[in-house]
Amino acid sequence: DEGLARDLYQLMEEAARHYQTQLRQHADKQKVDEYLALRGLSKEVVEDFGIGFAPDGWDGLLGRYRTNPDAQDKLLTGGMLIENDGGKRYDRFRDRLMFPIRDRRGRVIGFGGRVLGDGTPKYLNSPETPIFHKGQELYGLYELKQKHRDPERVMIVEGYMDVVALAQFGIDYAVASLGTSTTAEQFQLLLRSAKEVICCYDGDKAGYEAAWRAMETALPLLKPGDKVTFLFLPQGEDPDSQVRKEGKEAFEMRIDNALPLADYLFDTLSQKYGTDKGNLAKQAIALIEKIKDTVLANLLLENLAHKLGMNSSEDLRKKLGLTSMSTGAKAMAKKGLKGRGTPLRLA
Ligand code: CTP
Ligand code: MN
Ligand code: MN
Ligand code: MN
Ligand code: MN
Repeated sequence: DEGLARDLYQLMEEAARHYQTQLRQHADKQKVDEYLALRGLSKEVVEDFGIGFAPDGWDGLLGRYRTNPDAQDKLLTGGMLIENDGGKRYDRFRDRLMFPIRDRRGRVIGFGGRVLGDGTPKYLNSPETPIFHKGQELYGLYELKQKHRDPERVMIVEGYMDVVALAQFGIDYAVASLGTSTTAEQFQLLLRSAKEVICCYDGDKAGYEAAWRAMETALPLLKPGDKVTFLFLPQGEDPDSQVRKEGKEAFEMRIDNALPLADYLFDTLSQKYGTDKGNLAKQAIALIEKIKDTVLANLLLENLAHKLGMNSSEDLRKKLGLTSMSTGAKAMAKKGLKGRGTPLRLA
Protein backbone atom coordinates (compact mmCIF):
# COMPACT_ATOMS: atom_id res chain seq x y z
CA ASP A 1 0.00 0.00 0.00
CA GLU A 2 0.99 3.61 -0.52
CA GLY A 3 1.66 4.42 3.11
CA LEU A 4 4.10 1.54 3.36
CA ALA A 5 5.84 2.50 0.12
CA ARG A 6 6.25 6.07 1.30
CA ASP A 7 7.77 4.93 4.57
CA LEU A 8 10.08 2.52 2.73
CA TYR A 9 11.37 5.27 0.42
CA GLN A 10 12.03 7.41 3.48
CA LEU A 11 13.91 4.64 5.29
CA MET A 12 15.94 3.70 2.22
CA GLU A 13 16.99 7.33 1.82
CA GLU A 14 17.99 7.40 5.48
CA ALA A 15 20.01 4.22 4.99
CA ALA A 16 21.80 5.72 1.98
CA ARG A 17 22.66 8.81 4.04
CA HIS A 18 23.80 6.58 6.89
CA TYR A 19 26.22 4.70 4.63
CA GLN A 20 27.49 7.95 3.12
CA THR A 21 28.19 9.29 6.59
CA GLN A 22 30.01 6.09 7.56
CA LEU A 23 32.18 6.42 4.45
CA ARG A 24 33.28 9.85 5.64
CA GLN A 25 33.43 9.32 9.40
CA HIS A 26 33.61 5.73 10.53
CA ALA A 27 36.64 4.56 12.52
CA ASP A 28 37.33 2.01 9.75
CA LYS A 29 37.07 4.60 6.99
CA GLN A 30 40.73 4.05 6.10
CA LYS A 31 40.04 0.62 4.71
CA VAL A 32 37.27 1.89 2.48
CA ASP A 33 39.46 4.82 1.38
CA GLU A 34 42.15 2.31 0.45
CA TYR A 35 39.66 0.29 -1.53
CA LEU A 36 38.38 3.38 -3.36
CA ALA A 37 41.98 4.30 -4.18
CA LEU A 38 42.67 0.76 -5.39
CA ARG A 39 39.65 0.99 -7.72
CA GLY A 40 40.59 4.51 -8.75
CA LEU A 41 37.27 6.07 -7.80
CA SER A 42 37.33 9.85 -7.40
CA LYS A 43 35.66 11.78 -4.58
CA GLU A 44 33.40 13.44 -7.15
CA VAL A 45 32.04 10.24 -8.62
CA VAL A 46 31.56 8.73 -5.15
CA GLU A 47 29.50 11.79 -4.35
CA ASP A 48 27.59 11.83 -7.66
CA PHE A 49 26.46 8.25 -7.18
CA GLY A 50 25.96 8.55 -3.42
CA ILE A 51 28.32 5.65 -2.75
CA GLY A 52 28.64 4.74 0.92
CA PHE A 53 30.16 2.28 3.34
CA ALA A 54 28.44 -0.33 5.50
CA PRO A 55 30.95 -0.99 8.30
CA ASP A 56 31.45 -4.44 9.74
CA GLY A 57 28.99 -5.25 12.55
CA TRP A 58 25.50 -6.62 13.05
CA ASP A 59 23.59 -3.49 13.99
CA GLY A 60 25.17 -0.43 12.41
CA LEU A 61 21.91 0.40 10.69
CA LEU A 62 19.55 -1.43 13.05
CA GLY A 63 21.02 0.41 16.02
CA ARG A 64 19.67 3.70 14.72
CA TYR A 65 16.13 2.36 15.20
CA ARG A 66 16.49 0.75 18.66
CA THR A 67 13.43 2.52 20.02
CA ASN A 68 11.38 2.32 16.83
CA PRO A 69 10.06 -1.21 16.25
CA ASP A 70 7.79 0.01 13.45
CA ALA A 71 10.81 1.28 11.49
CA GLN A 72 12.59 -2.02 12.19
CA ASP A 73 9.69 -3.96 10.72
CA LYS A 74 9.81 -1.78 7.64
CA LEU A 75 13.58 -2.11 7.26
CA LEU A 76 13.03 -5.86 7.27
CA THR A 77 10.36 -5.50 4.57
CA GLY A 78 12.73 -3.23 2.66
CA GLY A 79 15.42 -5.91 2.71
CA MET A 80 17.85 -3.95 4.86
CA LEU A 81 17.62 -6.34 7.81
CA ILE A 82 17.60 -10.11 8.04
CA GLU A 83 15.74 -12.05 10.70
CA ASN A 84 17.15 -15.40 11.82
CA ASP A 85 15.14 -18.44 12.96
CA GLY A 86 15.29 -17.22 16.54
CA GLY A 87 13.64 -13.95 15.49
CA LYS A 88 16.84 -11.99 15.95
CA ARG A 89 17.37 -9.21 13.45
CA TYR A 90 20.63 -7.90 12.03
CA ASP A 91 21.99 -5.76 9.19
CA ARG A 92 21.99 -7.40 5.76
CA PHE A 93 24.89 -5.27 4.52
CA ARG A 94 28.11 -5.46 6.50
CA ASP A 95 31.65 -4.47 5.60
CA ARG A 96 30.76 -3.48 2.06
CA LEU A 97 30.99 -0.58 -0.35
CA MET A 98 27.38 0.49 -0.90
CA PHE A 99 25.85 1.54 -4.21
CA PRO A 100 22.37 3.01 -3.73
CA ILE A 101 19.98 2.06 -6.54
CA ARG A 102 17.51 4.80 -7.43
CA ASP A 103 14.34 4.66 -9.46
CA ARG A 104 13.71 7.13 -12.29
CA ARG A 105 12.38 9.66 -9.81
CA GLY A 106 15.54 9.46 -7.74
CA ARG A 107 14.08 7.51 -4.85
CA VAL A 108 16.41 4.96 -3.26
CA ILE A 109 14.82 1.55 -3.76
CA GLY A 110 17.68 -0.85 -3.08
CA PHE A 111 21.42 -1.33 -2.72
CA GLY A 112 24.27 -3.27 -4.18
CA GLY A 113 27.07 -3.91 -1.72
CA ARG A 114 30.57 -4.87 -2.84
CA VAL A 115 32.95 -6.69 -0.56
CA LEU A 116 36.16 -4.68 0.00
CA GLY A 117 38.48 -7.22 -1.52
CA ASP A 118 38.17 -10.88 -2.44
CA GLY A 119 35.38 -12.21 -0.19
CA THR A 120 32.19 -13.86 -1.37
CA PRO A 121 29.66 -13.08 -2.53
CA LYS A 122 31.42 -10.30 -4.41
CA TYR A 123 28.17 -8.37 -4.62
CA LEU A 124 25.24 -8.60 -2.26
CA ASN A 125 22.07 -7.03 -3.62
CA SER A 126 18.77 -6.02 -2.10
CA PRO A 127 16.11 -8.71 -2.46
CA GLU A 128 12.83 -8.02 -4.26
CA THR A 129 10.71 -5.80 -2.01
CA PRO A 130 7.43 -3.88 -2.37
CA ILE A 131 9.45 -1.00 -3.91
CA PHE A 132 12.30 -2.89 -5.62
CA HIS A 133 11.70 -5.02 -8.70
CA LYS A 134 15.13 -5.40 -10.15
CA GLY A 135 14.09 -6.58 -13.62
CA GLN A 136 12.33 -3.25 -14.11
CA GLU A 137 15.08 -0.91 -13.02
CA LEU A 138 18.37 0.27 -14.48
CA TYR A 139 21.21 1.28 -12.22
CA GLY A 140 22.40 4.78 -13.13
CA LEU A 141 19.39 5.87 -15.18
CA TYR A 142 18.43 8.56 -12.69
CA GLU A 143 22.03 9.82 -12.50
CA LEU A 144 22.21 9.86 -16.31
CA LYS A 145 19.00 11.86 -16.59
CA GLN A 146 20.38 14.36 -14.10
CA LYS A 147 23.18 15.07 -16.60
CA HIS A 148 21.23 14.71 -19.85
CA ARG A 149 17.52 15.42 -20.00
CA ASP A 150 17.29 13.93 -23.45
CA PRO A 151 20.33 11.71 -24.05
CA GLU A 152 21.40 10.87 -27.61
CA ARG A 153 22.57 7.46 -26.57
CA VAL A 154 22.54 5.10 -23.67
CA MET A 155 24.90 2.21 -23.05
CA ILE A 156 23.89 -0.88 -21.15
CA VAL A 157 26.66 -2.58 -19.14
CA GLU A 158 26.80 -5.36 -16.56
CA GLY A 159 27.98 -3.78 -13.35
CA TYR A 160 27.84 -0.92 -10.90
CA MET A 161 31.59 -0.36 -11.22
CA ASP A 162 31.30 -0.13 -14.99
CA VAL A 163 28.68 2.63 -14.79
CA VAL A 164 30.62 4.57 -12.19
CA ALA A 165 34.04 4.24 -13.87
CA LEU A 166 32.65 5.24 -17.26
CA ALA A 167 30.98 8.30 -15.69
CA GLN A 168 34.23 9.25 -14.01
CA PHE A 169 35.90 9.23 -17.42
CA GLY A 170 33.18 11.40 -18.94
CA ILE A 171 31.12 8.62 -20.51
CA ASP A 172 28.13 9.52 -18.40
CA TYR A 173 25.44 7.68 -20.32
CA ALA A 174 25.91 4.10 -19.11
CA VAL A 175 23.42 2.15 -17.03
CA ALA A 176 23.54 -1.39 -15.65
CA SER A 177 20.97 -4.13 -15.61
CA LEU A 178 20.78 -5.46 -12.08
CA GLY A 179 21.43 -9.11 -12.72
CA THR A 180 22.88 -11.38 -15.34
CA SER A 181 20.62 -10.66 -18.29
CA THR A 182 18.87 -7.55 -19.53
CA THR A 183 15.11 -8.04 -19.33
CA ALA A 184 12.51 -6.99 -21.92
CA GLU A 185 11.24 -4.31 -19.52
CA GLN A 186 14.74 -2.93 -19.18
CA PHE A 187 15.17 -2.94 -22.96
CA GLN A 188 11.90 -1.08 -23.38
CA LEU A 189 13.17 1.50 -20.91
CA LEU A 190 16.46 1.81 -22.81
CA LEU A 191 14.73 2.24 -26.15
CA ARG A 192 12.51 4.94 -24.66
CA SER A 193 15.47 6.72 -23.08
CA ALA A 194 17.54 7.37 -26.21
CA LYS A 195 17.59 6.88 -29.97
CA GLU A 196 20.69 4.75 -29.78
CA VAL A 197 21.29 1.83 -27.42
CA ILE A 198 24.77 0.35 -27.14
CA CYS A 199 25.10 -3.05 -25.49
CA CYS A 200 28.50 -3.53 -23.88
CA TYR A 201 28.90 -6.61 -21.76
CA ASP A 202 32.10 -8.02 -20.30
CA GLY A 203 34.68 -9.57 -22.60
CA ASP A 204 34.20 -13.07 -21.24
CA LYS A 205 32.00 -16.08 -21.93
CA ALA A 206 29.22 -14.81 -19.66
CA GLY A 207 29.37 -11.45 -21.44
CA TYR A 208 29.15 -12.99 -24.92
CA GLU A 209 26.18 -15.06 -23.82
CA ALA A 210 24.57 -11.98 -22.28
CA ALA A 211 24.97 -10.14 -25.60
CA TRP A 212 23.25 -12.89 -27.56
CA ARG A 213 20.40 -13.09 -25.05
CA ALA A 214 20.08 -9.30 -25.15
CA MET A 215 19.77 -9.41 -28.94
CA GLU A 216 17.03 -12.05 -28.69
CA THR A 217 15.27 -10.01 -26.01
CA ALA A 218 15.46 -6.81 -28.06
CA LEU A 219 14.12 -8.27 -31.34
CA PRO A 220 10.38 -8.26 -30.49
CA LEU A 221 10.63 -4.65 -29.29
CA LEU A 222 12.43 -3.14 -32.25
CA LYS A 223 10.95 -0.61 -34.65
CA PRO A 224 12.43 0.70 -37.88
CA GLY A 225 14.83 3.50 -37.02
CA ASP A 226 15.86 2.06 -33.67
CA LYS A 227 19.60 1.87 -33.44
CA VAL A 228 20.92 -0.96 -31.30
CA THR A 229 24.61 -1.82 -31.44
CA PHE A 230 26.96 -4.27 -29.74
CA LEU A 231 30.38 -3.37 -28.44
CA PHE A 232 32.66 -6.33 -27.80
CA LEU A 233 35.59 -5.63 -25.54
CA PRO A 234 38.93 -7.41 -25.67
CA GLN A 235 38.99 -10.76 -23.89
CA GLY A 236 39.14 -10.38 -20.12
CA GLU A 237 38.17 -6.72 -20.04
CA ASP A 238 35.03 -5.02 -18.82
CA PRO A 239 34.02 -1.37 -19.42
CA ASP A 240 35.61 -0.34 -16.12
CA SER A 241 38.99 -1.94 -16.84
CA GLN A 242 38.97 -0.90 -20.49
CA VAL A 243 38.19 2.78 -19.98
CA ARG A 244 40.88 2.97 -17.31
CA LYS A 245 43.33 1.37 -19.69
CA GLU A 246 42.73 3.55 -22.71
CA GLY A 247 40.72 6.61 -21.63
CA LYS A 248 37.60 8.29 -22.92
CA GLU A 249 38.48 8.95 -26.54
CA ALA A 250 39.64 5.46 -27.41
CA PHE A 251 36.64 3.99 -25.64
CA GLU A 252 34.24 6.30 -27.47
CA MET A 253 35.87 5.23 -30.72
CA ARG A 254 34.81 1.68 -29.84
CA ILE A 255 31.29 2.93 -29.16
CA ASP A 256 31.17 4.70 -32.53
CA ASN A 257 32.32 1.51 -34.26
CA ALA A 258 30.04 -0.87 -32.37
CA LEU A 259 28.41 -3.62 -34.44
CA PRO A 260 24.80 -2.93 -35.55
CA LEU A 261 22.36 -5.56 -34.31
CA ALA A 262 21.64 -7.02 -37.75
CA ASP A 263 25.35 -7.41 -38.50
CA TYR A 264 25.92 -9.04 -35.12
CA LEU A 265 23.07 -11.45 -35.77
CA PHE A 266 24.18 -12.44 -39.29
CA ASP A 267 27.91 -12.42 -38.61
CA THR A 268 27.51 -14.69 -35.61
CA LEU A 269 25.31 -17.13 -37.51
CA SER A 270 27.69 -17.06 -40.49
CA GLN A 271 30.60 -17.93 -38.25
CA LYS A 272 28.60 -20.73 -36.69
CA TYR A 273 27.09 -22.27 -39.82
CA GLY A 274 29.61 -21.13 -42.41
CA THR A 275 28.96 -23.05 -45.59
CA ASP A 276 25.73 -24.65 -44.38
CA LYS A 277 23.54 -21.97 -45.99
CA GLY A 278 20.32 -23.87 -45.42
CA ASN A 279 20.87 -24.05 -41.72
CA LEU A 280 22.09 -20.47 -41.65
CA ALA A 281 18.88 -19.28 -43.32
CA LYS A 282 16.79 -21.40 -40.98
CA GLN A 283 18.46 -20.00 -37.86
CA ALA A 284 18.33 -16.43 -39.14
CA ILE A 285 14.65 -16.71 -40.00
CA ALA A 286 13.88 -18.16 -36.58
CA LEU A 287 15.32 -14.96 -35.12
CA ILE A 288 13.68 -12.64 -37.63
CA GLU A 289 10.37 -14.29 -36.75
CA LYS A 290 10.69 -12.79 -33.29
CA ILE A 291 10.43 -9.26 -34.67
CA LYS A 292 6.90 -7.95 -34.28
CA ASP A 293 7.28 -4.97 -36.59
CA THR A 294 6.50 -6.11 -40.16
CA VAL A 295 8.47 -3.40 -41.90
CA LEU A 296 11.58 -4.10 -39.90
CA ALA A 297 11.22 -7.86 -40.29
CA ASN A 298 11.02 -7.45 -44.06
CA LEU A 299 14.07 -5.23 -44.05
CA LEU A 300 16.06 -7.86 -42.20
CA LEU A 301 14.79 -10.57 -44.47
CA GLU A 302 15.88 -8.58 -47.50
CA ASN A 303 19.22 -8.08 -45.80
CA LEU A 304 19.49 -11.81 -45.15
CA ALA A 305 18.71 -12.63 -48.77
CA HIS A 306 21.54 -10.38 -49.95
CA LYS A 307 23.95 -11.89 -47.45
CA LEU A 308 23.04 -15.33 -48.78
CA GLY A 309 23.88 -14.13 -52.28
CA MET A 310 20.29 -13.85 -53.50
CA ASN A 311 18.85 -10.87 -55.27
CA SER A 312 15.86 -10.38 -53.02
CA SER A 313 13.77 -11.85 -50.25
CA GLU A 314 11.56 -13.10 -53.08
CA ASP A 315 14.35 -15.49 -54.06
CA LEU A 316 14.77 -16.43 -50.44
CA ARG A 317 11.04 -17.10 -50.20
CA LYS A 318 11.23 -19.43 -53.18
CA LYS A 319 14.14 -21.19 -51.61
CA LEU A 320 12.27 -21.61 -48.32
CA GLY A 321 10.38 -24.64 -49.55
CA LEU A 322 13.66 -26.36 -50.32
CA THR A 323 15.25 -25.98 -46.92
CA SER A 324 13.90 -27.58 -43.79
CA MET A 325 12.23 -24.64 -42.14
CA SER A 326 10.64 -24.40 -38.74
CA THR A 327 6.88 -24.84 -38.91
CA GLY A 328 6.53 -21.20 -37.91
CA ALA A 329 8.63 -20.05 -40.82
CA LYS A 330 6.73 -22.34 -43.19
CA ALA A 331 3.44 -20.95 -41.99
CA MET A 332 4.71 -17.45 -42.41
CA ALA A 333 5.98 -18.16 -45.86
CA LYS A 334 2.53 -19.47 -46.82
CA LYS A 335 0.77 -16.49 -45.33
CA GLY A 336 3.23 -14.25 -47.12
CA LEU A 337 2.27 -15.87 -50.40
CA LYS A 338 -1.37 -15.09 -49.77
CA GLY A 339 -0.39 -11.47 -49.26
CA ARG A 340 -2.22 -11.00 -45.98
CA GLY A 341 -1.16 -8.58 -43.29
CA THR A 342 0.96 -11.24 -41.68
CA PRO A 343 3.77 -10.67 -39.21
CA LEU A 344 6.28 -11.44 -41.91
CA ARG A 345 5.24 -10.80 -45.46
CA LEU A 346 7.98 -12.39 -47.44
CA ALA A 347 6.94 -11.25 -50.88
N1 CTP B 1 26.79 -9.53 -9.64
C1 CTP B 1 26.04 -9.84 -8.55
N2 CTP B 1 26.49 -10.77 -7.65
C2 CTP B 1 27.67 -11.38 -7.82
C3 CTP B 1 28.45 -11.08 -8.94
C4 CTP B 1 27.98 -10.14 -9.85
O1 CTP B 1 24.98 -9.28 -8.36
N3 CTP B 1 28.09 -12.26 -6.93
C5 CTP B 1 26.28 -8.52 -10.57
C6 CTP B 1 26.70 -7.15 -10.10
O2 CTP B 1 25.69 -6.22 -10.44
C7 CTP B 1 27.95 -6.91 -10.89
C8 CTP B 1 27.60 -7.54 -12.21
O3 CTP B 1 26.82 -8.67 -11.87
O4 CTP B 1 28.25 -5.53 -10.97
C9 CTP B 1 28.77 -7.94 -13.07
O5 CTP B 1 29.55 -8.92 -12.41
P1 CTP B 1 31.12 -8.94 -12.53
O6 CTP B 1 31.54 -8.65 -13.92
O7 CTP B 1 31.60 -10.19 -11.92
O8 CTP B 1 31.52 -7.79 -11.55
P2 CTP B 1 32.08 -6.34 -11.83
O9 CTP B 1 30.94 -5.40 -12.02
O10 CTP B 1 33.12 -6.36 -12.90
O11 CTP B 1 32.71 -6.01 -10.41
P3 CTP B 1 34.18 -5.68 -9.99
O12 CTP B 1 34.80 -4.87 -11.06
O13 CTP B 1 33.96 -4.92 -8.73
O14 CTP B 1 34.88 -6.96 -9.75
MN1 MN C 1 27.86 14.12 -21.18
MN1 MN D 1 31.44 -10.50 -15.57
MN1 MN E 1 34.83 -5.17 -13.12
MN1 MN F 1 32.74 -7.14 -14.89
